[in-house]
Amino acid sequence: MDSISTAILLLLLALVCLLLTLSSRDKRKLPPGPRPLPLLGNLLLLRSQNMLTSLTQLSKEYGSVYTVHLGPRRVVVLSGYQAVKEALVDQGEEFSGRGDYPVFFNFTKGNGKHRLLQWDRWKKHEERILEEAASAGRAAKTEGEPFDPTFVLSRSVSNIICSVLFGSRFDYDDERLLTVIRLINDNFQIMSSPWGELYNIFPSLLDWVPGPHQRIFQNFKRLRDLIAHSVHDHQASLDPRSPRDFIDCFLTKTAEEKEDPLSHFHMDTLLMTTHNLLFGGTETVGTTLRHAFLALMKYPKVQARVQEEIDLVVGRTRLPTLEDRAAMPYTDAVIHEVQRFADIIPMNLPHRVIRDTAFRGFLIPKVPGHRFIITLLNTVHYDPAVLTPRITSSYLTTAPHPATPAGRRLCLGESLARMELFLYLTAILQSFSLQPLGAPEDIDLTPLSSGLGNLPRPFQLCLCPR
Ligand code: HEM
Repeated sequence: MDSISTAILLLLLALVCLLLTLSSRDKRKLPPGPRPLPLLGNLLLLRSQNMLTSLTQLSKEYGSVYTVHLGPRRVVVLSGYQAVKEALVDQGEEFSGRGDYPVFFNFTKGNGKHRLLQWDRWKKHEERILEEAASAGRAAKTEGEPFDPTFVLSRSVSNIICSVLFGSRFDYDDERLLTVIRLINDNFQIMSSPWGELYNIFPSLLDWVPGPHQRIFQNFKRLRDLIAHSVHDHQASLDPRSPRDFIDCFLTKTAEEKEDPLSHFHMDTLLMTTHNLLFGGTETVGTTLRHAFLALMKYPKVQARVQEEIDLVVGRTRLPTLEDRAAMPYTDAVIHEVQRFADIIPMNLPHRVIRDTAFRGFLIPKVPGHRFIITLLNTVHYDPAVLTPRITSSYLTTAPHPATPAGRRLCLGESLARMELFLYLTAILQSFSLQPLGAPEDIDLTPLSSGLGNLPRPFQLCLCPR
């Protein structure tokens, strides 16, 4: 071997040593976790239960910050109030990236730029919410006949976000509204099932496998077409001086910034952002209300006490308003408690660090594509260290719950959701009592499935006029 070959060989050896040292140093700083198998990662540890239970169990073994391999993807998992708060609130800036979520991302291609929008105009929609809540009550007034509230609630709640986005509400039997609800409901169910979870782990593989997950993208496409149709109508009648709704505001901004090559305001962003708001604004609140109905039927004394407070503060001759809330601490606490125990997005949406981040003595590197962070909101909502007493048959505390999402990347619809939950519950309980079909103690509050969402078990109830 001549001296040049020897030098090249030595150089290569040195390079390999350097890479090995760097990668093991990187690993040393990563939070601990189970040893992964090639390709499968730690899937064998996760196979027997649902993902949430498995990840929670692993946190008991590896601590509140650990690393797990979902197939080939390396993921950092945070659990418990303290760790999640330190990441999302105390180091909110670093943890504010959005992690990969293939069931969404393969459709949106990252075009849902919610964070560009400072959408703080929900308050002016109070009247619309009350109208919808009252219409839902009327629609559900089936002379005390039992009915499943899912569809009535989705239709009504979805109509609120539709009027914010599209400028007008739909009639309850309008085919466009019914289609939106059917598609979103179907997708939320699939995403909350094992198929949705599996897709998030092996998207490229699952693209080739038949199954219900294939419907997710057909459904998304149909929603997108529906939105595109409405945007087209808006363009034809746009008056930038008097925007009628969210789409008009967005189109106006797009026109203002059309010369700016860095602008995020363009058609794809509009379609995806509208889609994400429609999705977020439809299923979440309806699902929380169904959890609330079940809890209030299981604990009739709590329901009666909320009604007493409504009678005292609002009376029966006018509808409740947001101003009443401050004078209704018990009702307010019930809603907080429902949100906590319903825990409807139990594993949060995935986050990502926007730069290499030191966290609790570990280093969480910013590596595009492969790593993301799961914050187990479920373990926050059920953390024994901060847990407030639950609803019981006789009482409920007014202590605030450790509500999340929190930090820099917030739920864009949070204040709208809070308004909706308060106005719907009070408007319905003002006029009706919720009656279960069987004995209250037989009501099962455990969720039917937990993936993206915690879905309550299907049920029927009667609305009995008070
Ligand atoms: C009870 C009702 C709701 C709950 C529990 C809820 C929960 C959440 C959670 C956990 C996140 C992820 C936050 C994070 O990444 O840390 C989120 C994000 C989001 N939510 Fe909500 N949400 C609710 C209602 C709504 C409503 C009514 C809308 C629409 C008007 C909405 C629109 C969104 C959007 C667009 C995002 C993505 C924000 C981003 O990526 O920057 N949500 N929500």
